[in-house]
Amino acid sequence: MLTNSPSRYGFVSITMHWLAAIAIYGLFGLGLYMTDLTYYDAWYNKGPDLHRSIGILLFIIMVARWIWKLSNTRPDPEPNLKRWEITLSGWTHSALYLLVFLAIISGYLISTAKGSSVAVFDWFKVPALFNQVSGMEDIAGKFHYYLSWSLVLLSALHFLASIKHHLIDRDNTLTRMLGGKQRNKQ
Ligand code: HEM
Ligand code: HEM
Repeated sequence: MLTNSPSRYGFVSITMHWLAAIAIYGLFGLGLYMTDLTYYDAWYNKGPDLHRSIGILLFIIMVARWIWKLSNTRPDPEPNLKRWEITLSGWTHSALYLLVFLAIISGYLISTAKGSSVAVFDWFKVPALFNQVSGMEDIAGKFHYYLSWSLVLLSALHFLASIKHHLIDRDNTLTRMLGGKQRNKQ
């Protein structure tokens, strides 16, 4: 099924969730790796080129995902969830969305701080939207660093929560985001 239903995520939501997660962890690892390279390393330019290109593609996925989320049925929480779990997971999901967008925007601001556009492979370019502001590259760089770490740490808690639901509560929270067979409902 392509669309969501009250009890499960559909193929489109599942695909975009996992594509975004892979892109985010990949960008995080690549970001830390590439900022440690020296000028004479083969990946000195290749790394940031790839990082920026994937970052802009992630932006497109996230916008599409958001529109899809707003225009689709929202699966109900599993029936065994307590009120505080429903509230906390709602806040966590919103915070994850916000952090992803802020990480992308700060990355874009680093890359366009000197007025240059962002090339996405050699497919298309995203122009710089703002006039050059002195010091913007450094400030955006600091934000980018802390936002990326916050995103990855919050997603680790989100990961642990889904494992707790799977192994301890034994509900369908994880399986319905993996597209797997639903476990028997008690
Ligand atoms: C969720 C998406 C993203 C994550 C998790 C991420 C993660 C990171 C990380 C961890 C670093 C290393 C920071 C440091 O050690 O100072 C980094 C650096 C960088 N990122 Fe991203 N990034 C993302 C999106 C983007 C986007 C969309 C762009 C540009 C369009 C971008 C451009 C850059 C640039 C230019 C650097 C190098 C900064 C420097 O030299 O200090 N990033 N990124
Ligand atoms: C940076 C990586 C991640 C981000 C940004 C992220 C974000 C989100 C968001 C925003 C939702 C709410 C549903 C939606 O809008 O699509 C969600 C749901 C979910 N995520 Fe993630 N996620 C990430 C990684 C992971 C990982 C690693 C796992 C587990 C292995 C996971 C498991 C789940 C599950 C099970 C749901 C469904 C929760 C429910 O039905 O209440 N996610 N995720």
